[in-house]
Amino acid sequence: MSADSPRSQSCTCIAPINIAVIKYWGKSDEDQIIPLNDSISLTLDTDYMYTKTTATISTELTKDSIILNNEEASGDGVRFQNCLSEIRKLAASSKHASTVEKSKLKVAIVSQNNFPTKAGLASSASGYACLVFTLAQLFELESHKSELSALARRGSGSACRSLSGGFVQWFHESQPCVARPIAEAEHWPQLRCLVAVVSNTSKAVGSTEGMSRSVKTSKLLEYRIKHVVRDRVEEMKMAILQKDFVKFAELTMQDSNQFHAICLDTYPPLFYMNSTSQAIIQLVHRYNEIRQNIKVAYTFDAGPNAVLFMEEAELNRFASVFHAFFGSIPHESFFRGKIPDPVDSTKDVEALGPDKALKGQVQYTIVCHVGQGPKNIDPTG
Ligand code: DP6
Repeated sequence: MSADSPRSQSCTCIAPINIAVIKYWGKSDEDQIIPLNDSISLTLDTDYMYTKTTATISTELTKDSIILNNEEASGDGVRFQNCLSEIRKLAASSKHASTVEKSKLKVAIVSQNNFPTKAGLASSASGYACLVFTLAQLFELESHKSELSALARRGSGSACRSLSGGFVQWFHESQPCVARPIAEAEHWPQLRCLVAVVSNTSKAVGSTEGMSRSVKTSKLLEYRIKHVVRDRVEEMKMAILQKDFVKFAELTMQDSNQFHAICLDTYPPLFYMNSTSQAIIQLVHRYNEIRQNIKVAYTFDAGPNAVLFMEEAELNRFASVFHAFFGSIPHESFFRGKIPDPVDSTKDVEALGPDKALKGQVQYTIVCHVGQGPKNIDPTG
């Protein structure tokens, strides 16, 4: 560091989570994290869920360190080190002497998710996106925006999609392998998302291990890659660009179902959904039946939590039905984020046929919309 630069410098940023509507499942290169297929995701707003990361560089630090959710994590984790060394390489090749100097210093990372990771909400995507974005701000690499997605990918594949806001596609054949927005967050302002946190006691196989097992053993995954997913990505892109909710919803549900079918086709099989997840799927299909149109869609990642999509006009009605079925706490505690207005759901619940056994099976639900990418929250940022 030059004599006139500070001995220590920090930067704090936040990054969003993203939910895939066309799933990434399977790698062609495990070390580089290159996926077998393109995927499409929606970046969720950071009003309620985000990762916040502070990165500090200092001449006084003697080693890299990372504190995750108040616990010291291993700073020599392969993926953390991969991200760090890639970003240092980028900084070392900079035209700016100050960036080159900063790249030589050790860093201290403090990262916190403001949502409970124990609830099984994906944290690696927002976590690695935030790490890379914060370091890029600190090293003044903002102009390298397109490369940052590739750097986050080395931490966790899905993280490369959290560097952009809005509707995002991750291109498996692009060089470098990155994600880019299909449409901005403002493109479809009516779209709403409910993240339902399902009670969960069992520990599932992690995504990395799970997808590696699927690549080795699932014929259905092979079929998906060869015959299904390419066309589905194009159809999904069109549905998003045309704001065609019915098409968007059908493709989202079909792709989630195919992903979980692949999990069952994996040997030994992977069980990510539980009986509550299945009850949510059934409720959504029955609800769409009584509404005589597709008004709500579900998707599930590698866990039992449901992510439900609908347009704003349907939100209050569906949310009240959902609460009547699955909630055992008051409406205003069951929903977090922007709380939907409660409406009388008696007729809908009668038509759907109430099921008392489901009460309390969803702990709470976070209401969100499509949002922006990471941002620097330093007062001077
Ligand atoms: C089911 O990105 O967590 O959420 O690249 O091995 O870190 P690694 O896996 P990860 O996998 C996410 C899988 C998924 C689908 C998706 O987000 O596309």
